[in-house]
Amino acid sequence: MKTIGVLTSGGDAPGMNAAIRSVVRTAHIRGLKVKGIMKGYQGLIDNEIRDLNPVDVSDIISCGGTILYTARCDAFRTPEGQRKAAETCRANGIDGVVVIGGDGSFRGAQDLSAQGINTIGVPGTIDLDIGCTDYTIGFDTAINTAVEAIDKIRDTSTSHERCSVIEVMGRNAGYIALWCGIATGAENILIPERYDGDEQKLINMVIEKRRKGKTHHIIINAEGIGHSMSMARRIEAATGIETRATILGHVQRGGSPTCKDRFYASMMGAQAVELLMEKKTNRVVAFRGGVFRDYDIGEALKMTKQIDPKHFDMSMNLSR
Ligand code: ADP
Ligand code: F6P
Repeated sequence: MKTIGVLTSGGDAPGMNAAIRSVVRTAHIRGLKVKGIMKGYQGLIDNEIRDLNPVDVSDIISCGGTILYTARCDAFRTPEGQRKAAETCRANGIDGVVVIGGDGSFRGAQDLSAQGINTIGVPGTIDLDIGCTDYTIGFDTAINTAVEAIDKIRDTSTSHERCSVIEVMGRNAGYIALWCGIATGAENILIPERYDGDEQKLINMVIEKRRKGKTHHIIINAEGIGHSMSMARRIEAATGIETRATILGHVQRGGSPTCKDRFYASMMGAQAVELLMEKKTNRVVAFRGGVFRDYDIGEALKMTKQIDPKHFDMSMNLSR
């Protein structure tokens, strides 16, 4: 192992830069050269590669986004795209690749590994929806950004005695919604894992809480449920309480990473390099049960994790 590549793929996440920095600096100490692969797997297909020296990653640990850019690359899903990507690695002397991204990116890493290029995945997604790991880089920053925004919406919601439906990201997973809902004292948290779709029940709760004297009503709606705008219109029509919907959107993906994201990114990036040094391939770095470890990607992709029902039930008790 003389030269390794690093790429970021799928949705960006705050902390990806900290992981890139850790890969570059750890590799340098271990006598390896690092090449930055631009725009995820697209950069491997288009041969968009640049040298990354320790100095090139100065001043990025506090930056959101990814200096390597990212992409969702359909061409890489084809055997031809995967062959081309492996050829690019060989042409650039890249013996191993660190892939920072989510589940989809790990599927890609599995394919690249099958082409004979050693690959190690690092979990980077704000959604926290990777089964093998309790932590994913970007989640902490995203929830803190969302909480700050929700607190602000609550101020104006209270002043106007309104109901607010606030939609947060998370694709099909409700982790962002659950954490933000608990942390902001939301009256309702709608997550795909638990929402039964009974809107009348929701409407009854809005009416009941207003009757008991609550001057606002915050509903955190996970992206996986969606339809926040029409939901707000229906709640307003049914309750007579002015209701506004806010979709927080991509603001949740940006910004300077929190300490926690920088810490995990630094640990995981370094561990990925160590695994490549040990000639491991088709593995993913994880933080599970309080320790950093690694799993076979195939095994990791089969692993599932569940929202703790106790957390959800507790949130309902606290919002009475
Ligand atoms: P994430 O990594 O955040 O889950 P995506 O699901 O969009 O994001 O995946 C990122 C990229 O990984 C895709 O654009 C594609 O290039 C690659 N990828 C995803 N799934 C596969 C697959 N089954 N086979 C090969 N490559 C894949
Ligand atoms: O996976 C991260 C994420 O932000 C999801 O929460 C969301 O569903 C998706 O990416 C949005 O993707 P895009 O940036 O392509 O709109």
